[in-house]
Amino acid sequence: MPNPVRQRIFISGASAGLGEGMARRFAAMGRDLALAARRTDRLQALQKELLAAHPDIRVMTSAMDVDDPDSVATVLPELADRLGGLDRVIVNAGIGKGASIGTGKAWANRATLLTNVLGSHAQCEAAMELFRAQGAGHLVLISSVASIRGMRGTRTAYGASKAALNSLAEGIRSDVYGSHIKVSAILPGYIETDINVGRRGLFTVGLDKGVQALVDVIEREPARGYVPEWPWRPVSRLLRVLPLPVVRRFT
Ligand SMILES: NC(=O)c1ccc[n+]([C@@H]2O[C@H](COP(=O)([O-])OP(=O)(O)OC[C@H]3O[C@@H](n4cnc5c(N)ncnc54)[C@H](OP(=O)(O)O)[C@@H]3O)[C@@H](O)[C@H]2O)c1
Repeated sequence: MPNPVRQRIFISGASAGLGEGMARRFAAMGRDLALAARRTDRLQALQKELLAAHPDIRVMTSAMDVDDPDSVATVLPELADRLGGLDRVIVNAGIGKGASIGTGKAWANRATLLTNVLGSHAQCEAAMELFRAQGAGHLVLISSVASIRGMRGTRTAYGASKAALNSLAEGIRSDVYGSHIKVSAILPGYIETDINVGRRGLFTVGLDKGVQALVDVIEREPARGYVPEWPWRPVSRLLRVLPLPVVRRFT
């Protein structure tokens, strides 16, 4: 059976990078949007641009700091009310700070774990409360290929944070298995955004190509999706089984 059209879509971290790019793509597909982030000036500029290009859609924006669980628990349901419900929630906001563990930069690793794990958890709670009440919805967690194996250096805490999201997604999926609530963990490879400034990862793709592949995978609603599928699906399979001395050269 084809997936239902997810008309009303919430995106966190919509003020930049992949979130902003997804907002543009979904708007061009005629979807209504609820966009959240801390930089509201950027959200409002995006709202203006999208409504000018697509006058038939609705675009709501709101300030939301995912590090503050009260902000998430208030803002997400408010945006849902303004759109009359949400059909898809994309848990996208995230950061990529970090340093080798034990090198005196605990604050950077803590910040990454806080935003990526607890910030995503807060959004999952709010989204699932709504979806349970509606009896339907699509929850999307933006993870990373950095979650597949332990990463060294600046990406240790980041990789761990994204591995937590894979587990969170699968646990929620298992909880509502067989219902009309779908849950996807999406693992992008390296896509050119602010999060990657100054470090070019393996198989890096440009923002447009990356966002198009991301939206295509989300629309398919898999339990786990890779972005782009090629080469990341086979590479991920390989990374899972290669011994650490080999893997650490690439991670
Ligand atoms: N680009 C890649 O190669 C890549 C690969 C794998 C996974 N990802 C994941 O994709 C997601 C988006 O990343 P990106 O590449 O688009 O990075 P980005 O360009 O740096 O954008 C990050 C977004 O997250 C928001 N954000 C950060 N902290 C927040 C907070 N405390 N509260 C609310 N919003 C917050 C930012 O908005 P404000 O600063 O305005 O709040 C911004 O809109 C992240 O989860 C990232 O880990 C990216």
